[in-house]
Amino acid sequence: MYDVQKIRRDFPTISPEATYFDSVASSLTPQPVVDAIVDYYTKFRANVHRGHYDLSMKASEKFEDAIDTIAKFINAKPSEIVITTNCTHAINEVALTVDFEPGDEVLLSTLEHSSNMVPWARLEKKIGIGTRWYKPGKTGLFDLNEFEKMITKKTKLVSLTYVSNVVGTIVPVEEVAKICRDRGILFMVDAAQAVPHFTVDVKKIGCDFLAFSGHKMLGPTGVGVLYVKEEHAEEMMPAFLGGGTIETSNCNCTLIDECNIDDCSFNELPYKWQAGTPPIASTLGMKVAVDYLTNVGFQDIAQNDDRLMERAMKGLMSIKNVDIFGPLNALQRKSIISYNVGELPAIEVGRIYSEEFNISVRAGDHCAVGYFKDVQEEEGVPGSVRASFYLYNTEEEVDRFLDATEKIAGIA
Ligand SMILES: Cc1ncc(COP(=O)(O)O)c(C=O)c1O
Repeated sequence: MYDVQKIRRDFPTISPEATYFDSVASSLTPQPVVDAIVDYYTKFRANVHRGHYDLSMKASEKFEDAIDTIAKFINAKPSEIVITTNCTHAINEVALTVDFEPGDEVLLSTLEHSSNMVPWARLEKKIGIGTRWYKPGKTGLFDLNEFEKMITKKTKLVSLTYVSNVVGTIVPVEEVAKICRDRGILFMVDAAQAVPHFTVDVKKIGCDFLAFSGHKMLGPTGVGVLYVKEEHAEEMMPAFLGGGTIETSNCNCTLIDECNIDDCSFNELPYKWQAGTPPIASTLGMKVAVDYLTNVGFQDIAQNDDRLMERAMKGLMSIKNVDIFGPLNALQRKSIISYNVGELPAIEVGRIYSEEFNISVRAGDHCAVGYFKDVQEEEGVPGSVRASFYLYNTEEEVDRFLDATEKIAGIA
């Protein structure tokens, strides 16, 4: 039996009066994650892989254990895990690492977060690559046949979000990976909105790269993950280099004036990709977040997600003046509802929820400008209000949210 009240007691920021419906932007953090961070700073605060004394060795051991846990979480090998500061950093690392040439194309969709748009726009300007955009339209539902038509002989990489952060629809990444594999195209998955809600298995997907953040899956801010398939991790020269990435004891340069990257021997995986001191405390916190999610279990988390979504969708659809983005079938979306209320600006609606009802929702374009540019013409109000649920949210909170929405719709 899913005991949501027990779960809620683990989250110090949760209070009975306030409703947090913005976990898509950042989830709340359970106490054991906070404790893991405090433990590091108070019990074994030292750098990792740099000292031959007890504190550093203990920190290294814990860090490696965290990498093992994170790797297992997505069915990767520890050698394929690169710790970054967030999902955005991970995507940028791929953009800067892959050897693009002028004329190469990157295929994206209008469901992308700006983290998976701007790094490619930069390469358009810097290198002369091209970007192509598959447009699933307002429903956010992916049509594989239409998507496949967007691939050309020049497509070098496809980079797609797994779950839309605007409408919560799920992209069929396994099928996309197969299409890419058959044509020798690299495939990156932005799993920022997937890892918090269901099991993500990089081997089953068959992708080349996968990126996500810790802070959206109960972990701390300041840590993210880039999965790099082992063959690429071995062959590619990472964009970021420095302390930790090379074997300084094997330096083959004879003179400092002749320092040459070809004479460097790289560290073993995954440390070849780990430039500089990693976010140690946050990585240890992220490990505990993974343990927490695993203990609760994704089956139960999904059931709670779906129960709340069905209740919220049914309620919202019955309120006059509410215009919902994305599919109306609650089970086609993951914990995210975007909508507008009459002609009221989304930001104004968000302010009313907060000030009058103590409900936190997000309002605006959710950094998904591609989606709104595509559908804006048919819409009167720019952007949307977005409510998102997670494992600590309850049916009572959904009812409070629906009551508030009905009142707001009354003044719209
Ligand atoms: C789908 C998606 N990708 C990437 C990001 C960026 O995540 P971060 O800010 O943690 O790098 C977000 C954040 O909302 C997101 O929803």
